[in-house]
Amino acid sequence: MAEKVIIDTDPGIDDAMAIFFAFQSPDLDVLGLTTTFGNVPVSMATRNALTLCEIAGKDIPVCEGVKLPWVGPESTYAHFVHGDDGFGNINHPTSTADPDPRSAAQFIIDMAKKYPGEVTLVAIGPLGNLAMALKMAPEISTLLKGVVIMGGAAQVPGNVTPVAEANIWNDPYAADIAFSAQWPFTMIGLDVTYAVSYTQDFLAKMAQVNPKLGGFVQKAAQFYVQFYSSVFQSTDQEVCYFHDAMALAYVIDPTLFEVKEGYFRVATDPLCYGQTTFAPLDKMIAPQWEGRPKMGAALSVDKARLTQLFLDTYAL
Ligand code: BDR
Ligand code: CA
Repeated sequence: MAEKVIIDTDPGIDDAMAIFFAFQSPDLDVLGLTTTFGNVPVSMATRNALTLCEIAGKDIPVCEGVKLPWVGPESTYAHFVHGDDGFGNINHPTSTADPDPRSAAQFIIDMAKKYPGEVTLVAIGPLGNLAMALKMAPEISTLLKGVVIMGGAAQVPGNVTPVAEANIWNDPYAADIAFSAQWPFTMIGLDVTYAVSYTQDFLAKMAQVNPKLGGFVQKAAQFYVQFYSSVFQSTDQEVCYFHDAMALAYVIDPTLFEVKEGYFRVATDPLCYGQTTFAPLDKMIAPQWEGRPKMGAALSVDKARLTQLFLDTYAL
């Protein structure tokens, strides 16, 4: 039976790739999209999520979530990575559909209660909606089947600061709440998402096997590719990274990943703001990590099988 998922998202180009991948997969039943600020302001994230549903012909609830970090000022967003529109400035017509009136947190709570033990929450943006849902209904930690996030870096550097990954850096106080809850929690972080780069050839194949959805991703990703090419000047090929789609791939086929169990802390002090520090179970645990909930961190991925899964699923 298809796994019930909610995707909490800030679309975003790799979010678009991830959402279409989930829509295409026969192994996933996407109950709804919940939105957060992150790559773009939350109002744009909601509009973009509705647009993605419209393109894919998917009639599911889209619920707007938090617009500000748990603590601190409004985010500066990542338009330099995802474009002014979040979709690489391709001027795609925006959906005029209405979002669901429920808040993101309320939708998460409603689904967790409606399908106890069945719903996996896949968070591919900052974690404010997860923190809000936990605050409103702490019991969801035992009602959800699990939580899978794209975010953090266990044993590799960050991508916003030397130590912090973007989704965690955007809202570390909320992340700390989500990382402190007693729910089955798996982190798909930069350890694996930077291990697999995608070239223009791959984007062309996506468009070839699925002109509508893959074609949109190829078009939107041109801006994203230029960003990554300017950051990683050492590469002789133009590439990009589909961070968010890997969290969905984990739900579809966990055997693609090597996951290690351990304990996490999220730093909120100014220097290490947003750092995720990982103490694996088989290493000495310092007192500050003791008593934390046990979590999983993906540390490696089968690149060939993952890439094939993306293409095969888009081709369906
Ligand atoms: C994460 O940050 C965002 O830019 C991407 O959409 C992804 O969720 C990668 O660090
Ligand atoms: Ca994202």
